[in-house]
Amino acid sequence: MLKIANIVGARPNFMKIAPIHRRMQVSENIEPFLIHTGQHYDEKMSKTFFVELEMPEPDLYLGVGSGTHAEQTATVMVGLEKVFMEQKPDWVQVVGDVNSTIAASLAAAKLHIPVSHVESGLRSYDRNMPEEINRILTDSISNLLFVTEQSGLDNLAKEGVNPDKIHFVGNVMIDSLVEHLKKAGHSAVLQDFNLQPQNYVLVTLHRPSNVDNFENLNRILDVFEYIQKRLPILFPMHPRTRKMIETFNLENKVKNMSNLFITEPLGYLPFLRLMSQAKIVLTDSGGIQEETTYLGIPCLTLRENTERPVTIEMGTNQLVGSETSAILKGFESAINGKLGQHKIPPLWDGFTSKRIVEIFEKQVL
Ligand code: UD1
Repeated sequence: MLKIANIVGARPNFMKIAPIHRRMQVSENIEPFLIHTGQHYDEKMSKTFFVELEMPEPDLYLGVGSGTHAEQTATVMVGLEKVFMEQKPDWVQVVGDVNSTIAASLAAAKLHIPVSHVESGLRSYDRNMPEEINRILTDSISNLLFVTEQSGLDNLAKEGVNPDKIHFVGNVMIDSLVEHLKKAGHSAVLQDFNLQPQNYVLVTLHRPSNVDNFENLNRILDVFEYIQKRLPILFPMHPRTRKMIETFNLENKVKNMSNLFITEPLGYLPFLRLMSQAKIVLTDSGGIQEETTYLGIPCLTLRENTERPVTIEMGTNQLVGSETSAILKGFESAINGKLGQHKIPPLWDGFTSKRIVEIFEKQVL
């Protein structure tokens, strides 16, 4: 019997661990336990996702909360080291690239507990992104590396990772999407916000490079001002972004846009519904680039680079940075249906968690 500690911390982790944890629970060879570090703690950033994804309550909740990068990472490490010493898992399973991911990996590796990383090998080659540091470090101390796209395989090969550790399994987040898309269709979110299918823009924005800097945030809001005159914008706002809009005294600017609708962060199902019916999605998220690729919805990514190049090569994603003219050019192409093709990347098929669990099961046999 393999005892596996599945770690979640922040919002984008939940839809990745949910299908893996569920499959492990029904495996005769695996005893999973679920640990939530508490990096995200607001009900709308955490609890809602557990309910909608039908995840069990975590076996352990650390409640680390917010802080500087060092504070947050260190607090997770101290909490998890204690848990790992008591629980003695055979494996620690981490996903994605958030601070909880590197903290759990580092605590485990120092205790000689093997680490399995889902979403390995993604690289933006931009070390100003905290996630890039988390990705590189986590991969370098992982014993099993599960990869979502070809670029991940290429990057790990370049870094000289032993190929025996690497498994191309596809995208586990798409497992959750496939499983919940029909249910999301019952969400009344479009009526709630008075939106017509294919006739609105959905926005998310939370990267420090976009929202922690006045000039960048102000410029992006100028672009929204223009776009909302053409199509209504729905903007579920991340707590970091809300805080920065207050800090920079930009609340009035936002309030004065009559066709821009701001809401609290939304749950998984309403957000999935909104993405699947949007005319265009504007985002700086990693996961949303992938979800829109699967759904075939035009996505403009407000970043200079992406660690998920398959979404551009095969999908409907386009990088537009944060310069006004580039975003507006992308918007015009998207609105005229000139953005990308709709090809689904290999193994983004809803069975990634099955492949992952089968690989773990082989370790027991
Ligand atoms: C984190 C991840 C990022 C991911 C994002 C998704 C890191 C380095 N970053 O960024 O990769 O894309 O989650 O949301 O791990 N806050 C709340 N309530 C919460 C959580 C956060 O109010 O439940 C506020 C706090 O003011 C906090 C700030 O948001 O200081 C930032 O939270 P943090 O977890 O540090 O990073 P995110 O920006 O959420």
